[in-house]
Parts: sequence; C-alpha cells; structure tokens
Amino acid sequence: MSDVSNAIESVLHEDRKFPPSPEFAAHAHISSEKQYQDMWQRAKDDPAGFWGELALSELEWFKPFDKALEGTMPENKWFTGGRINVSYNCLDRHLKTWRKNKAAIIWEGEPGDTRTLTYQQLHHEVCKFARVLDKLGIKAGDRVTLYMPMIPELAIAMLACARVGATHSIIFGGFSADAITDRNHDAQSKLIVTADGGWRRGKEITLKDKVDASLEGGKSPSVEKVVVVRRTGSDVDMVEGRDLWWHDLMDNADADREATPLDSEHPLFILYTSGSTGKPKGVLHTTAGYLLGVTMTSRWVFDLKDEDTYWCTADIGWVTGHSYIVYGPLSNGATTMMYEGAPNWPDYGRFWDMIERHKVNIFYTAPTAIRAFVKWGDEWPQQHDLSSLRLLGTVGEPINPEAWMWYHRTIGGERCPVVDTWWQTETGGILISSLAGVTDEKPGYAAWPLPGVQPVLLTADGKEIAENEVEGLLAIKFPWPSIIRTTYGDHGRCRQTYFSNYKGYYFTGDGARRDAEGRYRIIGRVDDVINVSGHRFGTAEIENAINESEWVVESAVVGFPHDIKGQGIYAYVIAEKHVDDPDKARADILATVTKVIGPIAKPDKIQFVSGLPKTRSGKIMRRILRKVAENELNSLGDTSTLLDPAVVDEIKAGRV
Ligand code: PRX
Repeated sequence: MSDVSNAIESVLHEDRKFPPSPEFAAHAHISSEKQYQDMWQRAKDDPAGFWGELALSELEWFKPFDKALEGTMPENKWFTGGRINVSYNCLDRHLKTWRKNKAAIIWEGEPGDTRTLTYQQLHHEVCKFARVLDKLGIKAGDRVTLYMPMIPELAIAMLACARVGATHSIIFGGFSADAITDRNHDAQSKLIVTADGGWRRGKEITLKDKVDASLEGGKSPSVEKVVVVRRTGSDVDMVEGRDLWWHDLMDNADADREATPLDSEHPLFILYTSGSTGKPKGVLHTTAGYLLGVTMTSRWVFDLKDEDTYWCTADIGWVTGHSYIVYGPLSNGATTMMYEGAPNWPDYGRFWDMIERHKVNIFYTAPTAIRAFVKWGDEWPQQHDLSSLRLLGTVGEPINPEAWMWYHRTIGGERCPVVDTWWQTETGGILISSLAGVTDEKPGYAAWPLPGVQPVLLTADGKEIAENEVEGLLAIKFPWPSIIRTTYGDHGRCRQTYFSNYKGYYFTGDGARRDAEGRYRIIGRVDDVINVSGHRFGTAEIENAINESEWVVESAVVGFPHDIKGQGIYAYVIAEKHVDDPDKARADILATVTKVIGPIAKPDKIQFVSGLPKTRSGKIMRRILRKVAENELNSLGDTSTLLDPAVVDEIKAGRV
C-alpha cells in the first residue's frame, strides 16, 4: 500500500509568505480572495452549473450540449450531446476579432532563426495540413503519431489533427526507436509526422532515422505513411511509397478546410506516461472538457492578458507543452512562445536573452531548470533586462525553497508573483496552484485548489484526514472537465491504476502536506515512479530495459536526491557473471537503456551487487535500496524479515 514516507522529501519548515502586490491584484482575472472563494464554493456546490456556464460563455459550440456532466469517475462524461472543435476554438473564433493579425506563435529556433505566425497565418497552415490529412485518408478517430522537434509544424500538425478529428499521439523526441514502436503499436497509428531532425546544443538530434528503425521489418503494420518536415537539411532516406515531404504536400494543399464538428467526448489526444507497473500507458483526453480545463486554468493561473507575451519552456512532447504552450494559450487568443533548443546554447544566458529580446511577460519553467540556472550563476540573468516579466511559474516537481527564492529574487526582481502549479498528465490541466492576484505565496507550496477541484488527504487505508498540519496521500474527490477518460485500449488499467485503491476518489500517486491554513505542499511520488528533471519514469520500466543487457540477470531501480534533476536514477544490478570490467558492463547497460527507452532514462549510478534485499515471499524491499541510495545508512529500519539480511551489508559497503 502506498505510504507517504516513500516520497523523497517529507520535512520542510517554511514560514515565509509573499503577498500579491496591490498593482498586480488590481488587474488580475481573479483579484480577490472573496472572488476565489465564491468561485470555489459555487463549483463545489453545483459543479455542472459552474462548468456548464463557463463552457457556454468561454467556448464556441457548433451545437450546444444537453448536459454538463453525466456519470461518476472514471466513466464521467462532460458536455454530452454537444458538438465542438478544438482547432476552431484555438483559431477560427479569433479570426472574427481584432486578434486576426495578432501573433499566435512566436517561435525561435536554436540557431537563432525566428518565425512569427499570426492567428490568420496559423489558421492558414493548419487548414492546409488538415487538407493533407484528408488526402492521406486520415479520418476522424484515426491515430496520428507526431515525433517532432520544437518547431511550428508540430503545433500546426496538432491543430490540424484536432481540426479533422484525428487523435494525436505525440512522442517526445528523446525517446528511442523501440519506444516509438511500442507506442505506435499500442495506439495503432496510421500516420507518423516527423522531421529530419532538430537542433539541441548546437548539434542535430536526428529523428527520421529513429522513425525508420521503429518501422523496420514491418514492426508497425498500422503505419501507412510518414510525413517528413525538412528542418536541419541533413540527409534522410525517403522510402518510396511510404515517405512524403511536408513541403511537397503543403505546396499542393488548399487552405479552406472547415473544422469538423466533433462530439464533446471525441478523443483529442493520447499521451503515453509512466506508472509503477508495466509499459507506459496512453492517457486519453477528449475534446470539450480538456479544452475548457486548459482554457480556464491558463487564464486563472497565468492571468493571461491580450497584451502579454507568454513563454512556457516545456517540450510539447510532454503534457505541459500540450496544455500550456498550445491549447490553453491559443484558446485564450494569447501570444505563445516556442523555443526549439537548449537553455545553455550558445551560452548560459540564452533564456534571459530571449526574454529581453521578445519582451516576455509570463515565464513558466521547471524547478530542474531553475536549479541549473542557480548553478550557472547570477551573472547570466544579470546581463539582461528582465523588467518585462510580470509573472513566473513552475511545474513538474517539488521546488526547493532555495530555488524558489532565487527565482523570485533574481528573475522576478522580487516584483513578480511565482505560481507553483501542481498537476499531472492525467489531470490534463493545473489543479492546485497559488493565484497570483489573490493569495500569498509560500515557497515550496503549490497551495490552493483551483475552482472545481476538491483535494483530500487520505491515510494509507483510505480514510480522509480532516485536520491540517498533516501529511497524507493526495486524492481528488470529484471529477473535473479535463480528467483522464481512459488509458487507451485498456479501460480496466485506468480504473485499476487511479480509481480502485481508494473507492470514489481519483488517486494521484503523490504524497502531500497540508499546512495550518490549508495550503498543499506536494512532497513527491508515493509509488514506484521516479521524477527525473520533471520527467516521469516507472522503476519497472527502467528495470525491464536494464535487464535486456546481456550483462544483467536482475536489477532494481530507485530514485535518489539529485542537486539539479530533483531525482536521479540509482540502479542495483545483479550481473550475469563476475564483472571483470565494470566500465564495459556499465556502458552496455547505458546503451541498452538508451535503445529501449531513450537517453533520458539512463541511470546516474549503477552498483553491481550479488543479491537484492528480498523478503521471504520474494518481494524486493525497496525502502532499503532507497535509503542506501540516499546515503541514509543508519536508518534502514527493520531488516529481519529479509531472506538474506547479509546482502544489506554488502549493498551498504558497495554504495556508489
Ligand atoms: O509528482 C508530481 C509531479 O509530477 C507528477 C506528474 O508528472 P507528469 O504527469 O509528467 O506531469 C508533469 C507536468 C504536469 C506529479 O504526480 N509534479 C508536477 N507538478 C508538481 C509536481 N510535484 C510538485 N510540485 C509541482 N508543482
């Protein structure tokens, strides 16, 4: 059973609080505590009324819905009977206003090339690619895989899929060919859109070759065509009859594709994410509820205004990019920035230089990036004028108060509110966050549930904890519009993973603390999920990859605190035979993980052991492995139930 003490950091004493400035509050979308509380209470008392009204006032419908909410989690349906299109709401509706010629996307490539697409221009490109999808025989409900760098064509492809009703499945460019094969197989994708490659730290990250390898030997029979964007200009093999150039297709496409009216619950996208067991699962989000969720949370949390330039530094390969680079901001008619490359190219000042040049007003990044900025030194941001910034945000992992304070002072000039936003791939949008115009901020605390969100803390046996100043398992009591609908192709797995341990709740897998006033601090995962630089990996997933190395008999993986990444990956490995050359064995293990998952899942530390601490029933006692990895050697707890307690001494002695 889940246990909050599994989470990596549980004690934090933090009393500093930073109230919103009166100037900020005066102009914020939600500008008083009373307004927030009234909204929250209304949403709790009458969820269908609250969300139903917003759905009508904030989205455009082809046919209004009959009922705002039907059923209970996870079979809840939102806005039933309605017909709507996400692409229409992100584009066409703005063309009827002055926003037609407003910048929708400001893009910057790593080499320094830039491109700005107004709403009108973006609409034009999206319509053309929607026509291309039609021509390639893609119909509403078909799956399309996008394995692309951070270039405008990725957003165009997403919106074109949404326009025709194709369900996109984006695969982060750091995943391997094997990972693409698995995901394509699971989603039964008909089409892959990719590029020759993209730029990162001055080098080309090739993509098309990985797509080729993922399809080799007929491994993905569902895939009929591959569309390739020319980004880097490097040589790629184009397979006759299968591979097509994006620019050839677009040159011949008309730009008059109407958005298809789709059912509110039509599948918008699948995004694979890791859990504690098995292979990554395809989290499915649908059309109207997801769109309303990201539209409202973008506005409430980032306080998006028409004159803002908003920049979320995530990669669109992860959910943050889906919700808060593309769908949320564009639905609001905002100007969203997109950057292709690394924060330290050509030097450590790249982000600050971009903020200065583009006059960015709202900046949203991850704690792991902030910790890297701290390490790189204040001189980099200090060389730039960051006075355009008015709001800062973080996401993806717990932020340590030192990093929070640095962000607040050095980047925010002590003037910008910092919103710590907690959410997950499965939640679709932000659920817990401070609100910049309303609440004070307390470093390390995501703080308050947004309207429509009812968080609770549970004990390990599923009882709600009423008191404050406690830790517990974070669960959500009532559905919200952008909640996960299913795990693609396996609804039982969705029920089992999120809705079965604690009946009547959505279980997050996180442990949290509630302070005396009711603010939430997310402590970390209580399951076997590791959060590396804000990216989720299941320990079982990494172990399975390691075990594919010819050197390995068995392995066990745990997280350990890492200065920059938040958590690093520590692997205990039982080798096939005596390892004469540990470097060679390590290199092979790293290469194997790179092949099976991708370089992002490579263990930071590998320790060869002769055995693992197992109970008599054969279960690995991960608590002990975690303690050793964390260098907490004197608090290993009871080891008397182990089959072979002596193995613990060996593991302690061999710690790397
Ligand atoms: O453990 C929580 C952590 O990231 C997990 C979700 O990961 P993913 O689905 O990849 O989505 C990441 C971006 C939304 C959560 O279960 N997490 C996310 N945001 C925070 C966080 N932990 C602490 N504070 C946050 N603000």
